[in-house]
Amino acid sequence: MAKLKVGILISGRGSNMAALIGAAEASDYPAEIACVVSNRQDAGGLEIARRAGIPTTVISHRGYPDRESFDRDVSAALEKHGVELVALAGFMRIQSPWFPRHWAGRQINIHPSLLPAFPGLHVQQQALDAGVRVSGCTVHFVTAELDAGPIIAQAAVPILAGDTEATLSARILRQEHRLYPLVVRWLAEGRVVEKNGQVEVAGVAPGATLLFSADP
Ligand code: GRF
Repeated sequence: MAKLKVGILISGRGSNMAALIGAAEASDYPAEIACVVSNRQDAGGLEIARRAGIPTTVISHRGYPDRESFDRDVSAALEKHGVELVALAGFMRIQSPWFPRHWAGRQINIHPSLLPAFPGLHVQQQALDAGVRVSGCTVHFVTAELDAGPIIAQAAVPILAGDTEATLSARILRQEHRLYPLVVRWLAEGRVVEKNGQVEVAGVAPGATLLFSADP
């Protein structure tokens, strides 16, 4: 069966991108990474992608008069590689309404909190400041509203006494690297169905779309 072609958008170190590339190296993984696009020339992830033999494109947002014209060029670069699913992986640009509309149901993001708690930035520190006892990460479809699209799956981690933003971020990140390849697998297998903002994964019990960290 043909593999689902995934395009990954990054702005930085690209560890989630690397987790997806690693998963896709297995011959029985149902998705392949067709290209990586970065808005920053200096994104560390670009070198990882190049070494893995994945086509990379840099499109700096700086040269564009508005968000939509940048978004249209990013989209064209993805389409040139036959991308069927866009995976945001630390992509630090807010999209114009055009992009999530164009890729509706075909674009996902990973966010380091249990949405809808703590959207936005510095969310691990937000979780610590709020005093919550559990946090984690969320993979969701992307809509025009930031960090608010239908949730596909989450992974939970405990917040421990003495945690700092760095220790909590690292604990969450380990779960991100498990969760993102798993969700892309489900999408590639055609098992993810969204109806009225609610997502079901066929063949997966509702409870199994919430992972728990085994390494506190
Ligand atoms: C991750 O924590 C991800 O959840 C968030 O941005 C960070 C990107 O890290 N959206 P990396 O570039 O994947 O290492």
